[in-house]
Amino acid sequence: MKNDLLLKALSGKPVERPPVWMMRQAGRYLPQYMKLREKYGFFERCQTPELACEITLQPVDIIGVDAAILFSDILVVPQAMGLEVQLIESKGPFLPNPVKTASDLHRVCIPDVHEKLQYVFDAIQLIKKELNSRVPLIGFAGAPWTLLCYMVQGKGSKTFDEAKAFCYTQPRVAHQLLQMITDTTIAYLEAQVEAGADVIQVFDSWGGLLSPADFETISLQYIRQIVTALKDKVPVIVFAKGAWHSLDAMAETGAQALGIDWCITPQMARSLAGDKVTLQGNFDPAKLLSPIPVIKKEVEAMLAAFGGERYIANLGHGILPNIPVDHARAFVDTVKGWSNGRAQ
Ligand code: CP3
Repeated sequence: MKNDLLLKALSGKPVERPPVWMMRQAGRYLPQYMKLREKYGFFERCQTPELACEITLQPVDIIGVDAAILFSDILVVPQAMGLEVQLIESKGPFLPNPVKTASDLHRVCIPDVHEKLQYVFDAIQLIKKELNSRVPLIGFAGAPWTLLCYMVQGKGSKTFDEAKAFCYTQPRVAHQLLQMITDTTIAYLEAQVEAGADVIQVFDSWGGLLSPADFETISLQYIRQIVTALKDKVPVIVFAKGAWHSLDAMAETGAQALGIDWCITPQMARSLAGDKVTLQGNFDPAKLLSPIPVIKKEVEAMLAAFGGERYIANLGHGILPNIPVDHARAFVDTVKGWSNGRAQ
């Protein structure tokens, strides 16, 4: 691997500077992505390995990030499990027939991932070939709780109250569904690793909606199964947005890194997570709308606060579609200009 900064930071080895990549780095803020979006539907882009490969490489070539992340979506898993998933322009995901009761579980299965998701593994093989060891490739999946949110609520939500009500009023059915998602996800991620993914990230975007006790029973116990199945094969990053209260428990899963958002200080996250895990984050994505000198100053403050070791520079959530490309590049370049713990 020509640029192995990410792999080194994950295993706690010394680095000359922290690696940097951005969640949702392949996406709508890039004009080159918007061009492909005019011609092909969202899932068509995911399902065509040549398109997924081209989009995955865009931020590596245009922004110069230290890692590629597979272009796909967490919702291809509910799709493979038998639910119809649409992506509605400017509205987001829509599942016309969500899971509401035990009898709806008959419409959901644990699929053969090679039968339903082979296009993802083909894309990974193609991306690895095209990357030619320039930077590592991150594969990913949604955490079971975050996938249940969409499978039950049927669409995006600020509170996912219907998904919560499902878990609180029909716990047996909810746990049956969470286990089915977990089993599918383990097979899916193992196949991503076999196809060539160098690192895996689990996205629990809605983990922070649960109380600490519910996070353990509804989310973390399933994330733990996923990390346990994968951690000896590949480094795993767990990003449970907002679930800072459980950083210590997440560190104990054996994940090599934990993602954090901007609502916690680096010092506080480090003291909760302990010294044995790498931290990833936590720049407020909306702050990339600031003037470039402000971005530079704030990124330098973030780097100084995290320190140079066991740290991956990233945003605290996905990049927003209205971020100017030169602002995204300023974020990445500021990290790349950081050496031995100081700005150059
Ligand atoms: O990070 C990357 O660049 C890799 C690709 C990636 C996408 N989705 C592509 C995408 C990844 C890692 C995801 C993960 C994902 N998808 C999450 C977890 C991360 C997070 O941001 O919380 C979630 C919750 C989803 C579900 C999803 N997919 C939503 C809510 C939306 C609509 C809102 C939005 O941001 O557009 C999508 C669509 C989606 N997934 C787009 C992209 C590039 C936009 C599609 C388009 O309009 O072209």
